[in-house]
Amino acid sequence: MLDASRSIGAKPRVFWVEGRELVAWRAGRELHVSPNACPHMGASLAEGTVRDGRLVCPWHGLELGAEKHGAWCPLAAHDDGVLCWVQLERIAEADTIDPPTPRPILAPRPSEFIDSVIRMEADCEPRDVLANRLDPWHGVYYHPHTFKRLKVIGVESGRLLLRVVYGITDRLGIEVDATFHCPDPRTITMTIVGGEGTGSVVETHATPLRHGRSAIIEATLATSDRPGFRRALRAAWMIRPFVLRAQRKLWAEDAAYAERRYALRSGRVPAAGRALKPPPEEPLADAPSAPADERSDQGN
Ligand code: FES
Ligand SMILES: [Fe+2]
Repeated sequence: MLDASRSIGAKPRVFWVEGRELVAWRAGRELHVSPNACPHMGASLAEGTVRDGRLVCPWHGLELGAEKHGAWCPLAAHDDGVLCWVQLERIAEADTIDPPTPRPILAPRPSEFIDSVIRMEADCEPRDVLANRLDPWHGVYYHPHTFKRLKVIGVESGRLLLRVVYGITDRLGIEVDATFHCPDPRTITMTIVGGEGTGSVVETHATPLRHGRSAIIEATLATSDRPGFRRALRAAWMIRPFVLRAQRKLWAEDAAYAERRYALRSGRVPAAGRALKPPPEEPLADAPSAPADERSDQGN
């Protein structure tokens, strides 16, 4: 998972995924993703331009497209209309028991929706992002500005079911029932199954970037069966900034939660009742030693 579909345009853009530096660009509407280092001398292709759908290297003008060029090999990319994806291994070359699927596995999305996508980075691993999302109990304590009441009802068919009241004002809130489940190991999908906005979906994706660094990409697909929703769709550009602001506020806090969890797991901060281990003592091998006869004089 890279970022929102609307965030990748004709201008090439660099992304890190699992320690690889990639460049994404579009030829018309078609999404392309490939290594960012030029196969000639390694220039950053993200600093190049796109001409007639081909990526032009900024150093010596090599033009690259959908075909392989030496060690430079474009990757399979997919734009699902809301989010852009890349597959690091080509399916034919993958030699795994559980081969990659040709398309991302997504939970059902509403047919009409207002989408908003945030992307932020944090010092943690994807499992810390998922752990935060699978801990609904923190909501009312850690985000009291948003969640007024929250009750975990139980687990049904591998889905966590809860009832939550979103605060509109101090006294006014909206009660909804929502499920949480993981369609793949790096995604959690929240689906509203009862109350206002039934059918709306929030997809939270965690992408490993480099060691100890992850991207959190969250897509909200809001829908409603209210008669005015068609008008709201036309005004999506006005509504989207408010949704984005609310998403960013929650994820600024949740990224801190994930970072704290990673710091504990990786031993950079001590858990309760523990202390940090002192660093190993430096050997004194380089310290100048006194000549043998001087040493024998010491203490006389
Ligand atoms: S480094 Fe790209 S063409 Fe030379
Ligand atoms: Fe949270």
